Amino acid sequence: MPINLAVFASGKGSNTKNICSYFSDSSDINVSLICSSSLSSGVVDYAKKTGVPSFVFSKKELVDFVALQDVLNSYCIDLIILAGFLLKIPEKLIFCYPNKIINIHPSLLPKHGGKGMFGKNVHKAVIDSGEKESGISIHFVNNKYDDGRLIFQKSCPVSSDETVDSLEKKIQLLEHVFFPKIIKQISLSL
Ligand code: GRF
Repeated sequence: MPINLAVFASGKGSNTKNICSYFSDSSDINVSLICSSSLSSGVVDYAKKTGVPSFVFSKKELVDFVALQDVLNSYCIDLIILAGFLLKIPEKLIFCYPNKIINIHPSLLPKHGGKGMFGKNVHKAVIDSGEKESGISIHFVNNKYDDGRLIFQKSCPVSSDETVDSLEKKIQLLEHVFFPKIIKQISLSL
């Protein structure tokens, strides 16, 4: 039986698209579901175009967890990947998927994580604090933002003339190279 992934995303979804294309020819690992908290998220259109089943839910439905749990069960989801998902993951979901929810964060945690630290906010904080390096962190999800056990980090230099946009590009490149590989490792270890 293949490992079934659900990818959760709220934003433009470059990681979601990259993960889907990385596993598109895999017989061991399938992206079986794309979940989003926003109908206008790029991933919803992408799911429709590519035929990957999708499920859009409100913050209330996420917290209630009833409908979402049914959907996750109906696709036999083994592992949940947060790829730019902005809502806090409720206890009930963490309880059902212990050490089976993975997030990626665009800084070297524990630096520059936590509530409100997403997207360009993170890169601005890194530059403003004069960091000489930044990077990506992939970690298990617990009940605090960006706080669960680290799985993998990769750093990159922050140059003296770095801008938020240039740093964002560097980080996105790292995310696209390493996130699918780490997802594969974790999936095959389940
Ligand atoms: C990424 O930078 C990721 O680290 C963070 O959210 C961003 C999502 O980017 N959690 P995208 O929507 O996949 O392009």
